[in-house]
Amino acid sequence: MIEVLDGLKDVIACESKISRIELIEDKAILEYRGYDIRDLAKNATYEEVAYLLLYGELPKKYELQDFKIELAERRELPPQIIGLLTHLPQYTHPMVVLRTATSYLGSLDRAKDLKTKEENIEKAKNLIAKFPTIVAYYHRIRLGKNLIPPTLELSHAGNFLYMMNGLEPSKIAERALDADLILHAEHELNASTFAARVAASTLADMYACVVAATGTLMGPLHGGAAQEVMKMLREVATPRRAEEYVKKKLEKGDKLMGFGHRIYKHVIDPRALILKELAMELSKTGNPIWFEISEAIAENAYKYKKLLPNVDFYSASVYANLGIPDDLFVNIFAMGRISGWLAHIIEQYENNKLIRPRAKYIGELERKFVPLDQR
Ligand code: COA
Repeated sequence: MIEVLDGLKDVIACESKISRIELIEDKAILEYRGYDIRDLAKNATYEEVAYLLLYGELPKKYELQDFKIELAERRELPPQIIGLLTHLPQYTHPMVVLRTATSYLGSLDRAKDLKTKEENIEKAKNLIAKFPTIVAYYHRIRLGKNLIPPTLELSHAGNFLYMMNGLEPSKIAERALDADLILHAEHELNASTFAARVAASTLADMYACVVAATGTLMGPLHGGAAQEVMKMLREVATPRRAEEYVKKKLEKGDKLMGFGHRIYKHVIDPRALILKELAMELSKTGNPIWFEISEAIAENAYKYKKLLPNVDFYSASVYANLGIPDDLFVNIFAMGRISGWLAHIIEQYENNKLIRPRAKYIGELERKFVPLDQR
């Protein structure tokens, strides 16, 4: 008997030193390279976390300083990429734009196939630095606005908000986005990271692996969920209507977006807890309605189906209060997750085994071929 594990549920597909998810009774632990995400989200910057994921250690002060400068200097896009962003139809989803621009960056890199550790890190820094610029530039291009070139003066998160709006962001907004990017940076073998590792296991170049990951992240069962959550918040419109909405959805057998998780079934996603605090903080200075509706939906999702929120649920109200348009939510996820993807791609290259599972065949057997004119 061949047992099929649908969706590769609970399959341990590789060894990794990048992140650990452990469920202990009613608590979930999530660590990047051994550091608890609660400590990282509270005390570190995204640049520090990206360094940690790529190199395996927290940077010393001078190492972080150098890394920040190296990222900042790589933010600007080659003119060919700006040309691409200008020529894509304005209705193109920003995630399709990110995927396409990543592929184009690969075609511009004459050294794309070189894979020493140093060359991989070099490409990784370039991709981490350029992702936010691609997102912000395309957004302004589609609105017919002038481009705001990146500045060396601001952090990774702060510079993104600056390129989006042309204004230096408030400290609260910068810190909120920074923490959000940290919380999205890595999550073991989620679908997009697995896609990246499958591509890397064929020894495809790093851009190809990131394109695979970017395409996979976009689906509504993965990173696309936050945009769907925002759609739900808008539909519900007031906390009073949350109960009726949740009941109806569940009665119809529909999924509630931003709830449920392959790993966190009976314990809450630890990232959701931190994002909830962030969403609450931002709602004090921004529009409180999104957080209020979120809370009402969460309460009823638990009441009617014991559903717990995942990382995407409170991200929606965080992004809404940062003034980020709904269709850019998944791009923000990608801007965080890129450093996790790259760490996994490098880990896969360094200890490679082609990933090639088997399928249990359930179709028809040994059929007699019928020539075309007799069918
Ligand atoms: N809304 C309603 N019911 C849900 C649910 C949700 N968001 N998530 C899980 N469930 C229910 C399923 O209907 C199923 O119930 P059943 O046993 O009565 O049929 C049970 O919980 C198991 O769900 P399943 O979809 O089989 O779990 P999974 O591990 O394959 O899927 C997700 C995990 C994330 C794909 C799933 O929870 C989901 O679709 N969530 C919504 C999308 C989302 O927020 N994605 C972002 C993930 S970070």
